[in-house]
Amino acid sequence: MEKQVRSWRELNVEPIDPDNCDPYTRCRVITMNGIEVEAVMFSHHLNRVCADMEVKQRLAEVRYVEQQQQKAVNWLLPGQASVLETTIAYEQVAVDLTGWVARMEPDPYLRQAYEFGVLEDFDHLYRYANLFEMIEHRKAEEIVDGLTEVMPGRPTVQHHRHPADNLNEPYDRESAAPLSKLHALTIMAAEQQTMNFYMNVGPQYMEPIARQLYQEIGMIEEEHVTHYESLVDPGETWWERLVNHEYNECYLYHSFMETESDPKIKAIWELHLNMELAHLHAACDLMRTYDGRDPESILAPELPAPVTFEPNKRFIRDLLANQVDLTKLGTGYVWEAHERFEKMQRELMGGRPPASEEVITEHRDRMGGDYRMETEGPHPIDRLRQ
Ligand SMILES: [Fe+2]
Ligand SMILES: [Fe+2]
Ligand SMILES: [Fe+2]
Ligand SMILES: [Fe+2]
Repeated sequence: MEKQVRSWRELNVEPIDPDNCDPYTRCRVITMNGIEVEAVMFSHHLNRVCADMEVKQRLAEVRYVEQQQQKAVNWLLPGQASVLETTIAYEQVAVDLTGWVARMEPDPYLRQAYEFGVLEDFDHLYRYANLFEMIEHRKAEEIVDGLTEVMPGRPTVQHHRHPADNLNEPYDRESAAPLSKLHALTIMAAEQQTMNFYMNVGPQYMEPIARQLYQEIGMIEEEHVTHYESLVDPGETWWERLVNHEYNECYLYHSFMETESDPKIKAIWELHLNMELAHLHAACDLMRTYDGRDPESILAPELPAPVTFEPNKRFIRDLLANQVDLTKLGTGYVWEAHERFEKMQRELMGGRPPASEEVITEHRDRMGGDYRMETEGPHPIDRLRQ
């Protein structure tokens, strides 16, 4: 721990080249930024409820390092990328990271939560891609590079549920697979960072349609954070949660070190993995002292298979065919647009289509069709075809 504070020179990382980088390198950068932001905010929350000065000092030291890691990671994004370009990359992360997690998740209820969410971020990608072409005259395929298809998912207008219907049942901390806990933390952190991003960058646009689309999708990211964070067992102690956070950071840096295509970025993942190992040891010490329990009792006996960014096209198409009309009622999944859903919709829409519909209508009016990139044939759902 004593060697982890970095000088400004060390923090002054060279950004990735937006035109020539591997899109999945950018996805890994965005993911790790979300993870580091969560590490920082979690540590702040713990600090606020912790009275022991010695523990607060240890947390502050690790937290400072987490902040420096966040700076090193997020500053890999290049200044010349526009907000919308980065937004499209955020939604690509949401699609291909959640897609991977859904495919690997061993628990059927948790898997359903990821399958449900991924179809919504998949639709956000399509809406933002249409906005991108309309106001920046560029195509989303420059960013996602054919790795992720761009076409309608569960239409964004249907994502606006009653807030109570965004809750889920948590996993049981005693019986859940360690991998399930890591999945929940990862997707929660990624969605939280997307929510924060839209909250802050949305008003940076002049065009009313852009401002409105960020407001609308920003509200859905709130729903997604609620959806995913409620999967985590609230009965976990603070120390247990700290250990899970640090272990997850180790897992993801290790995963990305194993799968990174850019050697300079790979070196950063490796450096950060080594730092996280020290954080994990410190967290385990705190858990032993304050919980009187062995961290080994809650952690995976070995690292699960590395989280891998790769295309999920077939998987998404199958989900579209089977789950596009699914919605939530309480903590369950249902097919019918129930009363609470309809009431929420009426209140929110005020008799007009939302920006997510308008952006497509406007795009069609101006350019004679919507923007989409279907690399695997026509859309699996008839009514969502061009
Ligand atoms: Fe970290
Ligand atoms: Fe999204
Ligand atoms: Fe989301
Ligand atoms: Fe950490």
